[in-house]
Order: sequence, then structure tokens, then C-alpha cells
Amino acid sequence: MTELRTERLFLRRWRDTDREPFAALNGDPEVMRHFPATLTREQSDAMIDRIDADLAHQGYGLWAVDAPDGFIGFVGLARPRFEAHFTPAMEIGWRLSRHAWGHGYATEAARTVLAHAFTTLAMPALVSFTAHTNARSRAVMQRLGFTRDPAEDFQHPNMTPDNPLQPCVLYRLDAETWHAGPR
Ligand SMILES: CC(C)(COP(=O)(O)OP(=O)(O)OC[C@H]1O[C@@H](n2cnc3c(N)ncnc32)[C@H](O)[C@@H]1OP(=O)(O)O)[C@@H](O)C(=O)NCCC(=O)NCCS
Repeated sequence: MTELRTERLFLRRWRDTDREPFAALNGDPEVMRHFPATLTREQSDAMIDRIDADLAHQGYGLWAVDAPDGFIGFVGLARPRFEAHFTPAMEIGWRLSRHAWGHGYATEAARTVLAHAFTTLAMPALVSFTAHTNARSRAVMQRLGFTRDPAEDFQHPNMTPDNPLQPCVLYRLDAETWHAGPR
């Protein structure tokens, strides 16, 4: 199982002490503004169980992230569990507590995940996607060098057409572009 370190962050397996702060961020309507609903404590705990099992099994996945003051959320790799024009694919994603926004932590953690994915894991390409309205997440994607072709925008299959979160944007970055580019 790989743990990753950056100048300020530690990406690691999940611990029982993460359960309470993770439930708090999953229950925060501002953090979950671009998701269908906030999560209950049970749903949040079940998510930890699932993603930590993936980390243990695959050696990579959605890592728990520690900043200097402790746990702030997750950043990492996951396969979308729905079908769309771009699946199967490997996604990079992030979800941080509100107090951890505005420090560059998501971008810093994601940069080390990208390096791991494109070197050690030799993945050919990654996608990232979010609701059209999620400007903060889209800004992370752009800072990392991901690009969007509007022709690839899609309607999230798990949401109904009356849901303003259904229109999603898709961003891509392939290994060749990453190796050639500034990071
Ligand atoms: C998406 C999300 C992770 C982005 O967080 P973020 O803090 O905006 O992004 P970063 O961690 O990259 O930080 C960038 C900001 O930190 C600032 N910053 C401060 N100190 C910095 C430093 N030392 N280095 C880099 N940036 C720094 C940047 O200027 C930038 O500020 P700005 O937003 O005013 O332009 C966060 O909003 C979130 O968890 N949202 C809820 C979950 C979610 O929607 N996830 C995505 C679903 S697909």
C-alpha cells in the first residue's frame, strides 16, 4: 500500500479517528453543494469502509489526507461506478473540509497523485468530472493541466433532468501530455 507525501500533506490509509471529521464534512451542505445530498454518519462510515478496502486491495485509491493540523478529507483515484460515453475510466477526485479550502491543498495532493498514477502505476490517462456549476473543482482540474472539450459534456445518469446538478463537464489528461508539460 502506497502512502504519498508532499511538502505539507500526507496521503494515507484511513483511521478510525477520521470517522467523525469525515462525517462532519459529508454532512456539511456547503461541501456537498454539488452532490445530490449530504451523507448521514452511517453513509459516511460505509464510504470509509469501501474506499479503505479499495486502498488495501489495490494499493491506490481515495487516500485520507492529513494537513499539518490533521485530517482534511480525501484526494485520489477511483473508477466511476456508472456508465457514460467515457467509461470505463480512471477518475481523479477530491473532497475537503471547508476549513481546508483556499490553501492549495487539493491541488498539492492531486499533483502527487498524478505523478504516482503516470509514473509508478503507468496509467495511460485520467478523467475528472463534476457538475457544471462546481467552479472550485473545475479550477483544480485546470490548475493540474486537465482540459475540457465541451462536446464531451454529459448528463449524469444517476440524476434526473430536473436536477440542476445533472449537467456535468468532463476533463481529461493523458500520460503523454503530463510527461511533456510543466507540473
Ligand atoms: C473542490 C475543492 C477540493 C477545491 O478546494 P480549493 O481550496 O478551492 O482548491 P485548492 O486546494 O487547490 O486551493 C486553491 C486556492 O488556495 C489558494 N492558496 C492559498 N495558499 C496557497 C498555497 N500555498 N498554494 C497554492 N494555493 C494556495 C489559491 O490561491 C486558491 O484560492 P482561490 O480559490 O481564491 O483562487 C473544495 O472546494 C471541495 O472540497 N469542495 C467540495 C467537494 C467537491 O465538490 N469535490 C469535487 C467533486 S467532483
